Amino acid sequence: MSRTWGITQAIDLAQAHERMTATMSIPLPPVPKEKRPRPVQVRAKVVGVRVVGAYREFTLHAPGVGVDAQPGQFITLGVGGNSSALLLRRAFALSGVDGDTINVVVATHGPGTRWICDRQLGDVLDLIGPLGRPFPAPPPGGAALLVAGGYGAAPFVGLAQRLCAAGHAVAAVLGAATGDRLYAVPEFPALTRVLAVTTEDGSAGRTGRVTDVVPELLPGASVVYACGPMPMLRAVAAQSAAYGLICHVSVEEAMACGIGVCMTCVLPVIGDDGTSRFLRSCVDGPVFEGAKVRFDDIGRLPDDLYGAAAMRATR
Ligand SMILES: Cc1cc2nc3c(=O)[nH]c(=O)nc-3n(C[C@H](O)[C@H](O)[C@H](O)COP(=O)(O)OP(=O)(O)OC[C@H]3O[C@@H](n4cnc5c(N)ncnc54)[C@H](O)[C@@H]3O)c2cc1C
Ligand code: FES
Repeated sequence: MSRTWGITQAIDLAQAHERMTATMSIPLPPVPKEKRPRPVQVRAKVVGVRVVGAYREFTLHAPGVGVDAQPGQFITLGVGGNSSALLLRRAFALSGVDGDTINVVVATHGPGTRWICDRQLGDVLDLIGPLGRPFPAPPPGGAALLVAGGYGAAPFVGLAQRLCAAGHAVAAVLGAATGDRLYAVPEFPALTRVLAVTTEDGSAGRTGRVTDVVPELLPGASVVYACGPMPMLRAVAAQSAAYGLICHVSVEEAMACGIGVCMTCVLPVIGDDGTSRFLRSCVDGPVFEGAKVRFDDIGRLPDDLYGAAAMRATR
């Protein structure tokens, strides 16, 4: 009998949250109320594999995942096959959506990404998505500056397309340590009024870091979006704040469940009420307002964040 590729299981985050809180004495933060596409779990077939510099770009047949997905959201993949000791799913930004297919770009990092990069045409991956909060829209008519480090450019192709379609001016700075770690550079000239490329070793574009170019472009921007390594996010958020601009950063915290129930991905964020809380980057993020992320306190236990009070509310 032929196998049908498609949605195998829909996940209701609100129900999962309710079940978890029912078994705990400490209330979990509420699931954010805004309308978001409901994630689905599918058996996604590899229908395209492309080597892009140091990365592998996969096209996956994943029905239902891309329908209402928005730039900034991500998917998770099970790795290692059914009998694998690699229990935790791995997260990847959605870098493209076309009907029933989606694209992700994968950098080899450890055993999970090595396993994914060995997948071939016709292989099947266990995929959940779309997950997380997308990038917020810019102010009406506002010009957007996109700043990416390495494969951090992945969600920006879709974001730049949407911003252009909505009439926003877009500028982008794409940087990496070396030329082979840049991503999607050829896609950007058609989408941006200004495009700067930097590499630390000078093998492509200007020699240096994205943060060397950002101050030159801030005067023309109304809002900044950044995706890349944490030190880059922190620096771009600081540069934007010094210029009085909001910077939306997409953080890459280690994740386990990806659906808001394990607390692996928490990071300290200052709320709208001025109080800091641990927020889950998988459901409250991965996009946060950069000025509100306490970058200095990521990975440590700050004195003012302890116990249930530190987890009680979102944003
Ligand atoms: C929202 C989000 C989007 C991402 N987008 C991309 C992308 O587009 N392309 C890409 O190549 N990578 C992306 N990453 C990073 C990718 O998830 C990690 O490189 C990958 O999980 C590492 O797994 P590993 O087994 O190869 O490495 P290991 O270091 O062996 O992983 C061990 C464990 O740590 C976790 N982990 C380790 N490093 C990271 C990390 N940087 N981020 C999250 N979890 C980590 C893994 O999930 C795993 O459970 C993204 C991460 C997040 C959170
Ligand atoms: S990864 Fe489990 S709560 Fe975020």
